Amino acid sequence: MKLTNRTILITGGSDGIGLAFAAKFASLGNEVIVTGRRQALLDKVKATHPRIHTIQSDVGDPSQIAMLAERVKKAFPRLDVLMNNAGISRYRNLTLESPDLNQLMSEMDINVGGVVRMTSAFIDLLKTNKGTLINVSSALAFVPLPCLPIYCATKAAIHSYTQSLRFQLEDSGVEVVELMPPAVRTVMTSDLADGSIALITTDKLVELSMADLAAGRLEIHLEERSNWRSCDAWRPISSTGSSGRRRSPWCLPARYRPSRVISKPSARRVGRDAGAIGRPRWRPIPPKLKSKKENFHVVEG
Ligand SMILES: NC(=O)c1ccc[n+]([C@@H]2O[C@H](COP(=O)([O-])OP(=O)(O)OC[C@H]3O[C@@H](n4cnc5c(N)ncnc54)[C@H](OP(=O)(O)O)[C@@H]3O)[C@@H](O)[C@H]2O)c1
Repeated sequence: MKLTNRTILITGGSDGIGLAFAAKFASLGNEVIVTGRRQALLDKVKATHPRIHTIQSDVGDPSQIAMLAERVKKAFPRLDVLMNNAGISRYRNLTLESPDLNQLMSEMDINVGGVVRMTSAFIDLLKTNKGTLINVSSALAFVPLPCLPIYCATKAAIHSYTQSLRFQLEDSGVEVVELMPPAVRTVMTSDLADGSIALITTDKLVELSMADLAAGRLEIHLEERSNWRSCDAWRPISSTGSSGRRRSPWCLPARYRPSRVISKPSARRVGRDAGAIGRPRWRPIPPKLKSKKENFHVVEG
């Protein structure tokens, strides 16, 4: 991906990972627009980064997406990068009936609905400008963290969706990138117990990701090159804290731990490493699938 002379829209760019990328892209001279729901956060961004444009918009609301698209297309017709970054995570106890069935789907609406709708609303412009789409999924797309069951499912959905999107856009001139961050220190992870998960900083994430983006990688997964203990991040939150393994609705018995879901022989060692999981097996991006495209029909709507 070319990292300069771009016009970049980052959803959820008012804080955390999105803001760190926005600041980096702006420092490289790019035109950067960020969105978020809270105006106060956006105002803070504007105060510290006057070059960054801010627009209040909720990716969970289709009508706000439509308004955003109209506004951005008018004001920034050269827009050629969309980074679908906005996301939320919620601890959920699936064993209890939810008091609010609408609220139960909030992560789906934002993390999946937001990405799908934003992509659709901007796809024409991205095709016209031969742009780049960056979807932020997560390392948790590949191994469920049981305390965040729906969040993990949304990230798995984004991984699958992004692969299909890349295939469909193969001949369009739009490059489709998936960023799968490991655990990163942001508001989203702020209530994780100290030491339960090794977190990297947003700056470190940006530094590592920029190298991969510059190298043209389309699937960016960083766990091998960050200094965090990747295995720990896959475990249920309360299983690795200094106070030892506690029983809680979030802490699954060993037989259900993610380690067994994609276990490999080395994951069955005893002692400190017991329960550690193997790294997800990253499937290579399929080679050119053009020959199969003849049998591939897109149904509109
Ligand atoms: N932190 C991690 O360890 C980690 C790891 C892997 C992947 N990720 C992914 O990285 C992305 C960013 O996470 P983060 O850790 O930076 O989160 P964060 O610190 O909580 O920041 C989230 C940002 O998204 C905005 N946002 C949330 N819901 C939104 C909505 N409906 N519409 C528009 N903006 C919205 C927030 O502002 P408002 O609340 O004001 O809208 C904020 O600017 C997410 O997709 C997350 O799943 C995070």
